[in-house]
Amino acid sequence: MESPVGALLSSTRPRDSKKARFRREMDKGLCRDTNPTAAVKMLPTFVRSTPDGTEQGEFLALDLGGTNFRVLLVKVKASGKQEVEMEDQIYAIPEHLMKGSGSELFDHIADCLANFMEKLGIKDKKLPLGFTFSFPCQQTKLDESVLLSWTKGFKSSGVEGKDVVSLLKKAIKKRGDLDIDILAVINDTVGTMMTCGYDDHLCEIGLIVGTGTNACYMEQMRNLEVLDGDEGRMCVNTEWGAFGDDGALEDLRTEIDREIDAGSLNPGKQLFEKMISGMYMGELVRLILVRMTKEKLLFNGKTTAELLTTGSFNTSYIYAIENDKLVCVYSYTEGTFERITSFLKASEVSQCMKDEESLASTEKVLRGLGLDPSADDCIATQRVCQIVSTRAAHLCAATLVAVLRQIRDNKAAEKLRTTIGVDGSVYKNHPQFSRRLHKMVRRLVPDCDVRFLQSQCGSGKGAAMVTAVAYRVAAQHA
Ligand code: BG6
Ligand code: GLC
Repeated sequence: MESPVGALLSSTRPRDSKKARFRREMDKGLCRDTNPTAAVKMLPTFVRSTPDGTEQGEFLALDLGGTNFRVLLVKVKASGKQEVEMEDQIYAIPEHLMKGSGSELFDHIADCLANFMEKLGIKDKKLPLGFTFSFPCQQTKLDESVLLSWTKGFKSSGVEGKDVVSLLKKAIKKRGDLDIDILAVINDTVGTMMTCGYDDHLCEIGLIVGTGTNACYMEQMRNLEVLDGDEGRMCVNTEWGAFGDDGALEDLRTEIDREIDAGSLNPGKQLFEKMISGMYMGELVRLILVRMTKEKLLFNGKTTAELLTTGSFNTSYIYAIENDKLVCVYSYTEGTFERITSFLKASEVSQCMKDEESLASTEKVLRGLGLDPSADDCIATQRVCQIVSTRAAHLCAATLVAVLRQIRDNKAAEKLRTTIGVDGSVYKNHPQFSRRLHKMVRRLVPDCDVRFLQSQCGSGKGAAMVTAVAYRVAAQHA
């Protein structure tokens, strides 16, 4: 059986047979005729350039959609030597607001903004604001952004199909005590690309592997058929999490992937994301462990209430488990994931080296779920984690490579030198993910010189960069 990466890189159709599967999805989204039915939306962001170091001013930023909701004040000085000062605060978004009424969600965001400004003593200032809103949005300009559909853990009512800038303005107006100029809405991939682009001018891709997964990149206007105009470049938010929503990944999805999807907030949607990102990775492992236990391949066939509870295997457990010296002599062979999901054979487990010491964290995690694991159970669990997270890294590499090839072809460059700005909890916290991703990307595109630059301060700085440019343009037209 073909491996997920191999399958993604090969074409199943005779037409465009040299183009990889994700590259064809990108084409569909970019093309005016096929865009309406494309799963991968390739959304225009109206961000036309990466930072050039001349950006300056004082900006507010909101960052909604990742693990944390943040409010920030970003001061950018254009002093030749680039300098950015930031103050930020994390605010909780209670579960009932993530899934409840949309207007209450936006009221809460406005309240947090007011609280932040009050604390900093800047409530009376009229400041420009950039809003990082990490969901698929149709933009017609920088400060108008219509939510197409909620993804990840959000499902607030009355927001889909609406412009989030208008919703936020309305909530701010209702309070009556703030005067804010919302100048830009950006996706977190764009914020990350701009944050990293401030330090490395070659950065033209933004990648997130966190709660969700997605990427953006600088595309030639001539290829972005959904917009008029052929000059220059524009950042495109691929929304690659939706890859496969039209059935394009059915040969790679396993029974476990279907189970995760069926129990999710958005069945049938974000199918690629559900194979990769932090919101689903722990649950994928849990579902495999449950199946293996029921098949008497683990824990003497005894499940526990905790193991059977949805969400009980936190993705951070995988980070702890894979942080051990890897005990399995394991290589990513074709069809491995398919084999593990059709249950790991006991004989394979016993082929693994045993290292009592390094199994300690696995045992701790499993005991925390009320299980009484043997050494073989721990080794098998480690192996499940390793396979699930390696598959995720390799799937990400395969789509990233399609983006790199697109940029390389756009530039007609023989050897592309480029930088990818990256953020997200899986990328940052999983001890092996980044290494596996980098290695696979370099293996697949040896003709590209790729630098991965991890965002040090989230997407807030990037939101300020975009807002700074919008502010400068608005001032010129005033
Ligand atoms: C943060 C960015 O650092 O990473 C957010 O500031 C982004 O904009 C987030 O959404 C993604 O990672 P996670 O793991 O929080 O979803
Ligand atoms: C989801 C969102 C996307 C975001 C990504 C990472 O896929 O739809 O907009 O960029 O998560 O946070």
